[in-house]
Amino acid sequence: MADTRPARRVVYLVACAAPPAQAVGDLVRLLQEQGWTVCVIATPRAFDWLEAAALADQTGYPVRHEYKRPSDPDSLPLANSVAVAPATFNTINKWTAGISDTFALGILNEAIGLKLPIVVAPYAKPSLAAHPAFERSLEILDGWGVKVLPNEVIRVKPAKNEFEWRPVVAALA
Ligand SMILES: Cc1cc2nc3c(=O)[nH]c(=O)nc-3n(C[C@H](O)[C@H](O)[C@H](O)COP(=O)(O)O)c2cc1C
Repeated sequence: MADTRPARRVVYLVACAAPPAQAVGDLVRLLQEQGWTVCVIATPRAFDWLEAAALADQTGYPVRHEYKRPSDPDSLPLANSVAVAPATFNTINKWTAGISDTFALGILNEAIGLKLPIVVAPYAKPSLAAHPAFERSLEILDGWGVKVLPNEVIRVKPAKNEFEWRPVVAALA
């Protein structure tokens, strides 16, 4: 009998080492409510800031932050989409230079090559956002077809006590 279940939509949620990474579980919940299967991938520094065990419980997948050994099996399903939230100055600039020295960057570089839909939520304070490399990197990402959200659009709004994740969810839809 034909399988009539809807295909699973898998998003790799790449979290870099900026303060919203500590609350990325809230974004996971919102994405799951929209039917996404979420796999969290952290940069090595962000991994130190996350509640990795709680996120693994929440998603059903380990939080990956380093490359596996060649003989290890793949632990994540294939992705349909990628979201980078928060995306640091550091990772954005390395990504556009094609550097793959973290597992997260390897995933991001492959996602470009595979032409997967990608949403990026940059999060850099004004002094870093004013650096010419940052603006150039965001233009490069835009030229590669990546959906680039405004810098710090996910920042906590006055009178709210949580990060503003909805633009990321909407951009993935
Ligand atoms: C408390 C703290 C807050 C930081 N906030 C930011 C930030 O908002 N945006 C940013 O681009 N970097 C921020 N950084 C710097 C990054 O963590 C640093 O550049 C790091 O190397 C980024 O690594 P990653 O891109 O591999 O995650 C912060 C660092 C610390 C210690």
